Amino acid sequence: MNKVEELKPQILTRINEASSLQVLEDIRVSVLGKKGEITEMMKTLGSLPPEERKLAGQVLNEFKTEITTALDAKKTALEEAELNRRLATETIDVTLPIRPKQQGRVHPVSQVMEEMLTIFAQMGFDLAEGPDIEDDWHCFEALNFPPSHPARQMQATFFMENTDGNVLRTHTSPVQIRAMENQKPPIRIVAPGRTYRCDYDMTHTPMFHQIEGLVIDTETNMGHLKGVLADFMKKFFEVDDVPIRFRPSFFPFTEPSAEVDIGCSRKNGEFKIESGKGWMEVLGCGMVHPNVLKNCGLDPEVYQGFAFGFGVDRFAMLKYGIPDLRGFFDADMRWLKHYGFVPLDIPTITSGLSANGGAKR
Ligand code: DAH
Repeated sequence: MNKVEELKPQILTRINEASSLQVLEDIRVSVLGKKGEITEMMKTLGSLPPEERKLAGQVLNEFKTEITTALDAKKTALEEAELNRRLATETIDVTLPIRPKQQGRVHPVSQVMEEMLTIFAQMGFDLAEGPDIEDDWHCFEALNFPPSHPARQMQATFFMENTDGNVLRTHTSPVQIRAMENQKPPIRIVAPGRTYRCDYDMTHTPMFHQIEGLVIDTETNMGHLKGVLADFMKKFFEVDDVPIRFRPSFFPFTEPSAEVDIGCSRKNGEFKIESGKGWMEVLGCGMVHPNVLKNCGLDPEVYQGFAFGFGVDRFAMLKYGIPDLRGFFDADMRWLKHYGFVPLDIPTITSGLSANGGAKR
């Protein structure tokens, strides 16, 4: 068993100096594997005389135990070193910004919708929605459109084929009807959404966006309507004083009806709010027509209300100086990069509507 005394320090040194788990495993195989050094020595035990065999067996077993212990200890040490190395190199700095390279942009229509709804939400309006595909009743009939009204003619309305006269809604006003049919007054809703008309030029696209407003109560008047819209304009354009003018107009579903203009000047497509220069029409509104109330089962002797509707795309063009409406729907990345908004800047009344997005666009 002198061989044991000779081998032991050598093997222990090799174990000690093993530089990786793989090297250590190779050592284990070369010592304890099927053809390993200790295994080979074990095989010679059978040829020894019985009294020597006992002693030699004991020595070999102790040797084997000692080597196994050394291998295990080294393995633990190497694993720990490997873990420490990974912990040191794979650190994550959780204070880094989450998206160092922001790519996406919020479309101006989404941004402006968000801004508008934020303002109306603060005034106490609920959000209402209706379908893009409407029936004649909600889109025209209940809104007091006479049967021969031009809005029902082919040139403006997209009629759906094979659908009992359904249309792509030409305005968001049908959501007024749905609101009055489905809830009891007092009603205070705004309804944003897509609308469709057969039209295409610099300021018209076949699909565009509107927001409809409706208030129904027992004591509402034109003064309330004017107050809501004046307040809205100031907040939306972020100007203390927006010149605003109500001009008599006609809509089948309101009486009296008005169109609202804001005072502004325009130079090279650049739009500026100021009085004394000119007026631009921005929306339609009025007191809800008694026939409309009756069509929805409300008694006009008890209830009145006001409504308004405006084009979201147009407000986006005005506020952010975007000259051509058609670019809104071209899905051109260069356009979106130029006119779009940083996604993490969410409009709020307190932190500013466009103060963040508008400036950093
Ligand atoms: N629906 C009208 C349009 O698309 C806009 C409108 C005008 C809506 C007057 C209203 C309103 O609610 O009272 O041209």
